[in-house]
Amino acid sequence: ESSFTSAMTLDQMGLPSVPERYILPPSQRPNPTLSLYPSIFLPVIDLSSLNNPSLRSETIDKVRIACKELGFFQVINHGIPASVMNDASDSAAEFFNLSSEEKMSLASSNVHEPVRYGTSLNHVKDKVHFWRDFIKHYSHPVSNWIDQWPSNPRSYKEKMGNYAKAAYKLQKHLMEVVFESLGLNANYLHDEIEKGSQVMAVNCYPACPEPHLALGMPPHSDYGSLTILNQSSTELQIMDHGKNSHSVPVIEGALVVQLGDQLEIMSNGQYKSVIHRATVNSEKKRLSIASLHSLALEKKVGPAPELVDSQHPISYNEGSFSGFLDYISGNDIMEGRYIDTLK
Ligand code: SIN
Ligand code: FE2
Repeated sequence: ESSFTSAMTLDQMGLPSVPERYILPPSQRPNPTLSLYPSIFLPVIDLSSLNNPSLRSETIDKVRIACKELGFFQVINHGIPASVMNDASDSAAEFFNLSSEEKMSLASSNVHEPVRYGTSLNHVKDKVHFWRDFIKHYSHPVSNWIDQWPSNPRSYKEKMGNYAKAAYKLQKHLMEVVFESLGLNANYLHDEIEKGSQVMAVNCYPACPEPHLALGMPPHSDYGSLTILNQSSTELQIMDHGKNSHSVPVIEGALVVQLGDQLEIMSNGQYKSVIHRATVNSEKKRLSIASLHSLALEKKVGPAPELVDSQHPISYNEGSFSGFLDYISGNDIMEGRYIDTLK
């Protein structure tokens, strides 16, 4: 597609106002005065307290409450060194500074591509465009995919690879903790998780001249089991059950953990996947790295048998990452969530 490769990326536009195709219908705009309820409880879990026998069960309780109330928490003392996090952020920043030709060589509108650059300028399906550029790549095991990752900047593979491996390890630990908090065996689905899928979504949201008219990412829930997010500023907003938005504070060195659709399904609805969106700001570009975890592409996920009884009948049909991809390649993201098709 020639128009595809000649397009400029959003980052290079430097526009004085938001072009028409990014302007959201009024009801979907991120009203900056009405939408923020920053001070509800946004839990921070110190993972090192799981190693302390006198704090462990209290910490598991905190995880359970966070998962039930919001499907969201932050973690500190998570074991990923600051240098590994910073290196990954630096290589992401360098990637987005490449020329549009270079980035566009990785572009594809096929959601099944394992490595895919996208700029919202080129999306054909979405009615409204979002103020975001991204590179997504399959990442587990790193050795299977790294050859296809961007070869520029030169250090990208090494730095992002180190972060991807560390995030995978953290994810396995978090899944054990979440399962324990549900009363399941911490080793539930151990072998499936070992063979699971990891997609790194590295996002760049350029400064936006009229941030009240546009969104970086529309409200959605993540398809997978859980997402580990490394963010540099507070534009991630989670929606509570009353649909109020809460911006997620940046805690130096902390990582954001969000439950996705597969955990909602496994928990038979006890835990909910969190609906969230990304706003944009007029001051400076924002980068985020989301490590999206799920069971393997084709693996079907259903409620844990231990969480089903006559009081709690099965509430979901089985779904899969692959089912999600098929769903989003045929549907506008604003029209509904894959998980709702499984209820
Ligand atoms: C996401 O929804 O996956 C990422 C949102 C963000 O950039 O904070
Ligand atoms: Fe998300």
